[in-house]
Amino acid sequence: MNELMVRVARRQQEVDGICSFDLVADHEAALPAFTAGAHLDVHVAPGLIRQYSLCNDPAEPGRYRIAVLREPASRGGSAGMHERVQVGDRLKVSPPKNHFPLTPAKHSLLFAGGIGVTPMLAMARTLFATGAGFEMHYCGRSASRMAFVDELAQSAFAAQVRVYADDGEPAQKFDARLLLEGAPEGTHLYVCGPAGFMGHVLDTARQLGWPESRLHREYFAGAVTASAADAAFDVRVASTGQLIHVPSHKRVIDVLADHGVDVPVSCESGVCGTCLTGVLEGAPEHRDSFLTDSERQANDQFTPCCSRACSPLLVLDL
Ligand code: FES
Repeated sequence: MNELMVRVARRQQEVDGICSFDLVADHEAALPAFTAGAHLDVHVAPGLIRQYSLCNDPAEPGRYRIAVLREPASRGGSAGMHERVQVGDRLKVSPPKNHFPLTPAKHSLLFAGGIGVTPMLAMARTLFATGAGFEMHYCGRSASRMAFVDELAQSAFAAQVRVYADDGEPAQKFDARLLLEGAPEGTHLYVCGPAGFMGHVLDTARQLGWPESRLHREYFAGAVTASAADAAFDVRVASTGQLIHVPSHKRVIDVLADHGVDVPVSCESGVCGTCLTGVLEGAPEHRDSFLTDSERQANDQFTPCCSRACSPLLVLDL
């Protein structure tokens, strides 16, 4: 589907460092519907595209709400949104895409860390509306820097939400193991937040025997893409036979572009899957957070915006 033009109808500083933006159709055309867990690719500036989860109620027509954490090490995405985007501005966005959909279940656990609360807000609203059982557990460093805490406290499902702040009372400490052990049989787990938080939650669930089919995750943090410590390797473009050297400090996507081979990109950090490219020979070193474990093990595709190679040569299906 084609990109959409939207207009910023409202901009709100939620807490220090987090700003929300309400986006409405620029013309009379209705905005496409979305489901809980969906995100938009937002064209923050020419050539700069970032993914932001939709956090308003999917049942609410005519509006998309995103919330943006200003990253201290922003490469232009979150800083651009905070510094430049004002009410009345027009933005180009993709139609909603959903890589983090809800699976029908009797009970769901929503674990959010920091700005990872955004997709969980839409999920909680959908689950509540459908009458499905759920609990939402929202963790952050400090209550004063956690967005939407008041909104959650005033929601119709406030009794199903618990908020944990690292600087709060020790008695309210988040205990992933306790929550996972106490979940009803067949519960699905959704987790979104910083990589360390997600790793801890997912590792705990796996230790307790939760099957992968009931673990759902969405990463925000970008991958480390290339450094001088990385090994160099070659890639071959299958359609032309072109052999291209990838030095240690360069990304595959950049080297391909230097040789006239363009692969579409969006997040450039292994999150969105836009650059996914087939691998016909060789072993990729996966650094993305998009592919599932079984997709990684198949070794037949990789994300050249961040991933590299374990073998001296990768033959790419390009
Ligand atoms: Fe998003 Fe590569 S561009 S995963």
